[in-house]
Amino acid sequence: MLVRAYAKINLVLDVLGTRADGYHELFTIMQTLDLHDVVELTEARDIELVVEGANLTAGPENLAYRAADLLRRQSGYSKGAKIKLVKHIPIEAGLAGGSADAAAVLRGLNELWKLGMGVNELESLGAVIGSDVPFCLKGGTALVQGRGEKVDSLPSLPPLAVLLVKPSFGLSTGQVYRMYDDIKKPFHPDGQGMLQAVCCGDVSGVVARLGNALEQVVLARHSEIREIKEILAAFGANGVLMSGSGPTVFGLFDNESLAVKTAGRLQKRNFGVWATKFCTSKAGWQTLRG
Ligand code: C5P
Repeated sequence: MLVRAYAKINLVLDVLGTRADGYHELFTIMQTLDLHDVVELTEARDIELVVEGANLTAGPENLAYRAADLLRRQSGYSKGAKIKLVKHIPIEAGLAGGSADAAAVLRGLNELWKLGMGVNELESLGAVIGSDVPFCLKGGTALVQGRGEKVDSLPSLPPLAVLLVKPSFGLSTGQVYRMYDDIKKPFHPDGQGMLQAVCCGDVSGVVARLGNALEQVVLARHSEIREIKEILAAFGANGVLMSGSGPTVFGLFDNESLAVKTAGRLQKRNFGVWATKFCTSKAGWQTLRG
């Protein structure tokens, strides 16, 4: 069985406060992209993981492995599965690649093992694996709150062209949140305004309200973020923003050909570059081959 695992960006990300459990209370709107990993699942006696296309651990620390293990323990299923991850989404990038893989494993193994679990049950399990997993299970465009476990679907936006640009370094989400806690005057983007713009399908309103409370933390330490933002704007991106806890920066373009043309210029500067678009069809959520 093949399952697609989609990357996400955050159109807006506001941090409302710190919770008693140490996590941060979020108000964020996430958007699924066409860029995806492919997860291949086959029945096996035990859980085995193989990773292709990225230097990632294939052991129990991997979120895909943890998802399979948790699902097996919760369901009491007696056998296992061989999981092959073919990675296309960059890692430690703020694009939820690991969470997308975990969500794909939960959805896929629920089918392969014929467990019959509902989406709510899978979302609760997903939240145990990581804060972005509940959104990755649902996909599309959604308002995400709490530490990530409250996911409300929003109307789809048009398939806007996106250029993702990742500097050579990666960032740990936990570390970025800890740096955020040290800022004296945190920035709060216009979350409510963004919610309204998305609900009205107002694309220029969305572009005008792109904002990420974590961006200033990363900007202050890594000048490449500013450099990428300036280049994207200079080459015609309508809006530019760092995604999630970074360091990937995305630019929204009027059309794919302009995004692809800009990609060439950024590649010359040794940044990782991916031209993609908003994924609006739920068709991709289905398994590819049963
Ligand atoms: O949930 P996940 O394991 O992906 O989170 C990684 C780290 O990011 C957490 O250990 C926590 O430090 C931070 N985090 C947070 N608030 C959130 C999500 C993540 O503080 N809402």
